[in-house]
Amino acid sequence: MTLKIAVMPGDGIGPEITAQAVKVLEALKSDGLNIEFEHALIGGVAYREKGIPLPEETVALAKASDAVLFGAVGDFSLDTLPRHLRPEQAILGIRKALNLFANFRPAMVYEELADASTLRPEVVAGLDILIVRELTGDIYFGTPRGNRIAEDGPFKGEREAFDTMRYAETEIRRIAHVAFQAAQKRGGKLCSVDKANVLETTQFWRDIVTEVGKEYTDVELSHMYVDNCAMQLLKNPKQFDVIVTGNLFGDILSDEASMLTGSIGMLPSASLNESNFGLYEPIHGSAPDIAGKDLANPMATVLSAAMMLRYTFGLEDYAVRIENAVKSVLATGPRTGDIWRDGKVRTGTAGMGDAIVAAL
Ligand code: NAI
Ligand code: MG
Repeated sequence: MTLKIAVMPGDGIGPEITAQAVKVLEALKSDGLNIEFEHALIGGVAYREKGIPLPEETVALAKASDAVLFGAVGDFSLDTLPRHLRPEQAILGIRKALNLFANFRPAMVYEELADASTLRPEVVAGLDILIVRELTGDIYFGTPRGNRIAEDGPFKGEREAFDTMRYAETEIRRIAHVAFQAAQKRGGKLCSVDKANVLETTQFWRDIVTEVGKEYTDVELSHMYVDNCAMQLLKNPKQFDVIVTGNLFGDILSDEASMLTGSIGMLPSASLNESNFGLYEPIHGSAPDIAGKDLANPMATVLSAAMMLRYTFGLEDYAVRIENAVKSVLATGPRTGDIWRDGKVRTGTAGMGDAIVAAL
């Protein structure tokens, strides 16, 4: 069987980092991995060439492929476009089009990187948590949204903007099942994060997660308010095993969790639908400040490719080989600036990709 991968580099550092992940996957071909790549435009590059951030043929290619390897989208020079034409709409649009509701964001601290966090080593050493973020609902997809003149209330007649936070029972149930099952395979603990004290949507979230929890008596379920969770992640992150939360809170908490590991350039993700079709991407954005300069850390994207082999194709042995190659480069190889320390050789994006291939 040949694995058909749609590659969507996108904007900013996207092309540089996805090229390294492709290089690493290509290197496994000589060891029997049967894989082929087809590239598609998405985000700002698609807007510039086709006039829209998510062309139909890009969605069609994704649907005709076995998995998607995605870089990043976002281009500050297009920020004045109407929202539906902005690059970021492409990633929201493709998640929705492929029904990728379950987003897995592991945050682990590699022994070799225990000194890279801004937190004390004893707080983060050995950390291994998984954030399960709901990805196709919540305030990111609420309707209606936009600017208007306020029709009532104390600011009547003024301009206002609004978004609506919204979750249906099915959406909460399916992500809860995914999270409970992930907890079963890991440490058996699930913390559901909400703001049930203030937001009705998230009280509903808490009720449904509690209901689903009755089917998973082997998983210890707890609930936490998002503001407390933000604090606990810094105070004592190792108290967590699996965290499940909505789209908005998951976005913010996973960026926060990335800093426990030392760099956002280290964190991969998998976005899956019910049939395990997946889009794999680093959790960071297009990093325009370092784009095109061979400065970006490609490890998050390379580790996303490993997640692809594991989750969509069940190729655990190849996934582990990539992860071990990354660890070996962290231990003895050169490093990009975001994780560079005294005594280490400094390298660029491509150099890091080459080092991972060499370690394979
Ligand atoms: P960002 O994640 O792109 O960058 C935040 C900071 O982390 C920057 O200082 C950047 O240089 C650094 N950084 C990110 N990735 C790195 C890597 N691999 N190696 C080394 N350093 C890295 O977030 P920011 O700056 O808020 O957003 C930039 C653009 O990306 C925006 O247009 C935003 O909308 C978009 N974005 C896209 C996402 C996606 O495509 N999934 C996710 C998040 C943001
Ligand atoms: Mg984010």
